[in-house]
Amino acid sequence: MTNPKRILLVGFMGSGKSSVGKELAPLLGWRFYDFDQVVEERVGDTVSTIFRTRGEEYFRGVESDVAEDLLAETSAVLATGGGWVAQPGSWEIVPDNTMSVWLRVSSGVAIQRASREGPLRPLLEGEGAEGRVDALFQIRRASYARAQHSLDSERYDPHELAEKILELIDRKRDQAMKE
Ligand code: S3P
Repeated sequence: MTNPKRILLVGFMGSGKSSVGKELAPLLGWRFYDFDQVVEERVGDTVSTIFRTRGEEYFRGVESDVAEDLLAETSAVLATGGGWVAQPGSWEIVPDNTMSVWLRVSSGVAIQRASREGPLRPLLEGEGAEGRVDALFQIRRASYARAQHSLDSERYDPHELAEKILELIDRKRDQAMKE
């Protein structure tokens, strides 16, 4: 890969994709986009309401259109929704000049963090949420692991993670200069 044109943050809900993206974009002088936020703007409803009233399949359709549009952006930091990379075909549409980073978090911490933020995540609602979320986590791990880099989001705060991603970008740019 030559100089990365965009950064793609992937990981489970509560892994800090949005917080890290918001820290990282200004450090690069790039724009920040959040898949969920763009879905909400397009549909005119919250993710939670979209799941409840129109269902997950509808949400995934809009999310997929949003992903295609945002992956065409350059000089952009993209925070994906936690389920997007696990949808069939998602990785296949990621352009080569994209640096992908998996923010690792355990399912226990993900649930804690996400619940603290309130009733925003439909997959956490209802009886037996913990078991469901843990099962999802196991299923999705292999999809997250396809990212080029991974960072421990329990060990570092969003600012530190953004700094670490900057280092990865610098290293990649140095490499590209030498080639
Ligand atoms: C989802 C994660 C959410 C959001 C939706 C579905 C998932 O994004 O896209 O609730 O399937 O894991 P965050 O990872 O930003 O919470």
